[in-house]
Amino acid sequence: MRTVIETMRSGIDEEGIRRAGEILRRGGLVAFPTETVYGLGANALDETAAARIYEAKGRPSDNPLIVHIADWEAVRKIAADIPGEARLLADAFWPGPLTMILRKSDAVPPATTGGLSTVAVRLPDHPVARALIRAGGGYIAAPSANTSGRPSPTKAEHVARDMDGVIDMIIDGGDVEIGLESTIVDLTEGTPTILRPGYISREMLEGVLGTVETDRALIADDADIRPKAPGMKYRHYAPRAELIIVEGQQEQVRRKINELAAENAARGRRTGIIGTDESRDFYIKENVEVKSIGSREDEGSIARHLYGILREFDDSEVHVIYSESFETPRLGQAIMNRLIKAAGHQIISV
Ligand code: TXA
Ligand code: MG
Repeated sequence: MRTVIETMRSGIDEEGIRRAGEILRRGGLVAFPTETVYGLGANALDETAAARIYEAKGRPSDNPLIVHIADWEAVRKIAADIPGEARLLADAFWPGPLTMILRKSDAVPPATTGGLSTVAVRLPDHPVARALIRAGGGYIAAPSANTSGRPSPTKAEHVARDMDGVIDMIIDGGDVEIGLESTIVDLTEGTPTILRPGYISREMLEGVLGTVETDRALIADDADIRPKAPGMKYRHYAPRAELIIVEGQQEQVRRKINELAAENAARGRRTGIIGTDESRDFYIKENVEVKSIGSREDEGSIARHLYGILREFDDSEVHVIYSESFETPRLGQAIMNRLIKAAGHQIISV
């Protein structure tokens, strides 16, 4: 299959959106930018189209998809028994990086929800995404547009790496704004519960709803507790290299990483280091590739570059990567949730 690339870095191209919408309406796959990460879209109400997503990504079929909509009214078609909290959250955070789990209606085929009786819904804050959703019929299932298990794509080149020749079209909207997937909140069982941390923090949700819980599987970080979001149980976001996080007091972390990197480099293993603008000059450079993920003064920059940096290290074929830990004030939980998964829980405390 030839994958068409449509460039819309400086805004919507009506003609391109019309063509993309047509592809979606006849059951095809179109990757598109959102404010969080790139999504791989298909008509959520068409069973065969949704099934194609699983095939293109190599995704396990029990891992449900998020249905993307372009206006609040669309929720009524795909969800049933919509609680008042959904409207409150929509008014506060939509369009935006928040996904709500609701009871599903009969309009949504089981292929889209991985057989669950609930559906994930999100109204993204990106003009190209919303134009595409409308053009494609209003209900677009879209997981992150990466091959299953790889880091999520934050630019069109990442999507092309994984999906060229496999999907019909990629819309290139430039770099995404946030760089981490949406916060997922479950509204189907008692107290609203966060299933995946993201840019919309627990404090922000509590500001609207009162008490909000966090899925125990996220906190306990224990492989025996099954997360409520099926996708959170898989090794994820992972680079090809072995990734090890070193946490502790800044100066000791730098020293430990240098020591480990030197040992590895001496053994002829290609070694990478993930530091920051503040720390990069402290690291040894001989036979070691040092990259800055961003500035500790700007946690948004760390979130934005995380997946891209993991992919860059894949391209330079390092064997092992040592990373600092980023417990930043607001986004720290979301950043570390992804980094710890990417590291397969390998953490050294100093
Ligand atoms: O920011 C995002 O949410 C991006 C962009 C493209 O919108 N999408 C995204 O989709 O991250 P995906 O498929 O990579 O992650 C969806 C997550 C998975 O962990 C899945 O298990 C969970 O949402 N999920 C989907 N439907 C669910 C449901 N009914 N109940 C519980 N978890 C659900
Ligand atoms: Mg994903």
